[in-house]
Order: sequence, then C-alpha cells, then structure tokens
Amino acid sequence: MNFDAQPDRSSTYAYKWEKYKGTDVLPCWIADTEFRCAEPILAALHERVDHGLLGYTLPKHHKGAEEAVIRWCKKQYCWDIDRAWLVWTPGVVPAFNMASQAFSKEGEGIIVQSPNYPPLLGAPKINNRRQLQVPTVLEGGRWTIDFDSLEQQAARSDVSLFILCNPMNPAGSVLSTDELDKVAYICTKYNVVLCSDEIHCDLILNGQAHLPAGKHSKLRESSITLMAASKTFNVAGLGTSFAIIPNASVRAKFIRAGAGIVPWVTVAGLAATQAAFTQCDHWYEAQLDYLRANRDYLVREINKIEGLSCTSPDATFLLWVDASALQVKDTQKWCEDRRVGPSPGRDFGEPDFFRINYGCARAYLEEIVKRLSS
Ligand SMILES: Cc1ncc(COP(=O)(O)O)c(C=O)c1O
Repeated sequence: MNFDAQPDRSSTYAYKWEKYKGTDVLPCWIADTEFRCAEPILAALHERVDHGLLGYTLPKHHKGAEEAVIRWCKKQYCWDIDRAWLVWTPGVVPAFNMASQAFSKEGEGIIVQSPNYPPLLGAPKINNRRQLQVPTVLEGGRWTIDFDSLEQQAARSDVSLFILCNPMNPAGSVLSTDELDKVAYICTKYNVVLCSDEIHCDLILNGQAHLPAGKHSKLRESSITLMAASKTFNVAGLGTSFAIIPNASVRAKFIRAGAGIVPWVTVAGLAATQAAFTQCDHWYEAQLDYLRANRDYLVREINKIEGLSCTSPDATFLLWVDASALQVKDTQKWCEDRRVGPSPGRDFGEPDFFRINYGCARAYLEEIVKRLSS
C-alpha cells in the first residue's frame, strides 16, 4: 500500500485522464482515486480470471459477496441486514433511476438537493419527472439541507420520492442523527419514499458515525439505501453496487423497475466486492488517514488563495471550492488556464464553484495547489 505512488493511467482509457489527454492540464475531476487497489482485491480478480470460465453468475447466488456486505454493514454501521434485503445493481446511477421509475409517476416531481452530483440532479428529467430542488445552506461553517424548503416540497401533492445524497457530493457533509431524524419526520409525514445515495459513506474523515437510511426506525419500511465498494476501494470501473431495501414490497417494486433493462452485476465486481469488504480493513484505515491529511492540507492551502474559499468536508475525497470572489465569468476556464482540471461547478448547479478530487498522491496535490496559486 503506497498512496504516494503516481501510477501512469494514460494508456488505460481512464475517463479522468482522457479528458485532458495531450495537454498539460492536471485532471482532478471525476470521482475515482489515483490509488492502486488493495492487493487482496487484485488477487481475488486474478484468481477469478485464472479459473478460466466467466459465464453467467446470478448475483443472488454469490453467498461470498452477500456475506461480505453483511459483515461490512455490521462492522461499519452496526447495522444487521438480512441477505434478502440486498439487490445488486450495476451502479448507483441505474439504481436511483430505477427508484425514480418505481416510486414516482410521469409528470410528478422528484425532490433533489442542490448542488449535487450531476446524474442525480438529472434523474427526474431523464425519467420524464420534474426536478424539485432543495437548497444546501451553510450553517455554522457546515453545509446542510434547507429543511424548511424540504418540507415545502414534500408537502406538494404531486411528490412521492426524495433522492438524497448522504454524505453529500459535492458539499461533503454527513447527516447527523438530528438531521436524519428531520428527513425521516418529513418523509413519513408526507408519505415520501426516500432513496438515499450513500456511495461515499465509508469515506468519513472526522470520525462521525454514518447513519444509513434503512437503519432508521422511521425510514426502514420506506427507503432504498444505495451503497458500493466502488469509491472506497477504487473499483468503480467494475460497475457493481447494491441497494438495501428492508421492506419486501418496496424491494419488489424497485426490482420490477429494472426488469429486462438493468443487467446483473459481473463476476469480477462480485469478487472484488467480496475481497474489499472482508480482507482490506488495514488498507481502508490507511487510506482514511491519507485522505484526512490531504484534505487538511488542501483546505488550508485553498483558503490562502485570493478569491477562493472552502469549508472542510466531513467526508469524501472531494473539495467544494467557492470561487465567486474571483469575479470571473468562467470559473472552469480560470482553473484550466492554470493547467488544473477540476469538476465544473456549473454541472452541479453552482457555476461559481469547482470541485477538486484529492484522492491522489500528496505530491500531485501540491502541484495542483502550486498551479492554482500562480
Ligand atoms: C453521489 C454519487 N452517486 C453515484 C455515483 C456513481 O455511481 P455508479 O458509478 O455506481 O453509478 C457517484 C460517482 O461519482 C457519486 O458521487
């Protein structure tokens, strides 16, 4: 495990690196890390490939991967889940789109927080629903949900689904018990199903407990909790994630929405998830330490640059930077002129912001800082 390494991904068709190929721009946009996978994951993949047969595998039969998820939920979140509650999906994005189909009707509104991960913001529109935004607000130096606005949107008669992102991407906040209680209260009061995208929940850097939606007593029967090993263990290219749905009829509706359209997850993804959730605890802890140090360094340095400011995220390897004080027309161009390629804030709903991925070697991050400071 060497998080200081800078592997060359230029010939791997990595999405992050393809965008600026042939230029001198340092990519720090899409949310995968520059860290080589933990060795047990690579060994599990080698073993699977060496077997030589890669035929159909029904994910539900993969006891190893399912028991690994059960172990992980217990270890990480003190959450006892039942194998029957698990539904494998080839990504969290397909999963929240399945939820959109299953729990709202055409023309209805779906509540989403803003700013947010672009495919999540886009889910209502591509499903012919209307996007109802709830702002994210700064309170005491920390981003949180505007709960008054959430209640107003939830009270509408044409709303039956809220897609939450917890921990938040891009803002990096982790919902506290109080905040999840408020979400639960509002969703229950207005009969709104909660689809909770928790893909970043293993990457909490401040030691807070993450509270999965489906573990909450008021949300258990009316929620879909989406998780994956993909961000935590840098295996997003294997397209494997899972939904945890305790209520049988909610689960059946969710599965029906994907029938015949959404494929099974792959044998490779299942093998990697199993290894990640059973054999990589030390690697995982070491990565958290590395990310915490990167975050603290980056937050300190960004706040020294005139025109830029940020709050320290509780979680993720993503920093949400407010560049409004630069007073430039195109924030992304300002970064790219300095040969840095973050995620454009406009894609998340805030054109005066940008998002830096700090899941990379410290030396790489120092170069990003140097360039942004010039
Ligand atoms: C909040 C959030 N949800 C979902 C995804 C993507 O999920 P998947 O690759 O499993 O579809 C990302 C990736 O950046 C994300 O940040």
